[in-house]
Amino acid sequence: MLIIAGHRGAAGSTPENSLAGLDRAAQLGLHWVEFDTFLSKDHQAIVFHDETLERCSNGQGKAAEHTLAELQTLDVGAWFAPEFAGQTLPSLREYLLHAKSLKLKLNLELKYHQQPRQQLVEAVLKEVEHCDFPLDDLLISSFDHQSLLFLHHQAPQFKLAQLYEEIPNNWQQQLQDIKAVACHVDYQQTSVEQAKQIKLAGYRLSTYTVNEPKEITALLPWLDMVISDFPERFL
Ligand code: G3P
Ligand code: MG
Repeated sequence: MLIIAGHRGAAGSTPENSLAGLDRAAQLGLHWVEFDTFLSKDHQAIVFHDETLERCSNGQGKAAEHTLAELQTLDVGAWFAPEFAGQTLPSLREYLLHAKSLKLKLNLELKYHQQPRQQLVEAVLKEVEHCDFPLDDLLISSFDHQSLLFLHHQAPQFKLAQLYEEIPNNWQQQLQDIKAVACHVDYQQTSVEQAKQIKLAGYRLSTYTVNEPKEITALLPWLDMVISDFPERFL
């Protein structure tokens, strides 16, 4: 059955990567949410997409140059709509615990913003363990193959997905190297033939970020998951 996952929570109708987005996803009856994580200045895993704060908060500069405590003084909701004023930037711990309380499954995207890979992976592992988040309900993805390789060697029990924009020629080798369960591709840069090959090689196939259902008509027979800002359009 095709899984519909909310992108950055449910970024079409709530501030991206916010706890409000998790609430919205649960209200819509979704089972899966995608979100982004990287490190604060004090090496805490945070839930945020951009390297810089301006677009999605009332802060300034690079997120990674602020401590978690500083980041948590920011408003990450008002930029989206006044009714979301007061939303704070979630730590990974808060996000995992909130998702767990809502029984949501998570696609955690490791965002590589030139931070030490080992520190990010270790921070994520620490929080997943602290929250006792069920590993069956967690899929970890990244565009950064090196981060996934490191994670796979550190904790082979985690389910991994390689993210691609343009699919490289060595995709099969990369998926094997991390014992991936899935491949997450940009629907605008993936042909039906490529989708078929990935499926025939035994991997689950997801595509992002699809906001108009008609745009993936051709790929649909090969897809296991669609990641959308507007998951409600697929329900
Ligand atoms: O995981 C799919 C998608 O989130 C990848 O792109 O930039 O939205 O994190 P981005
Ligand atoms: Mg993402």
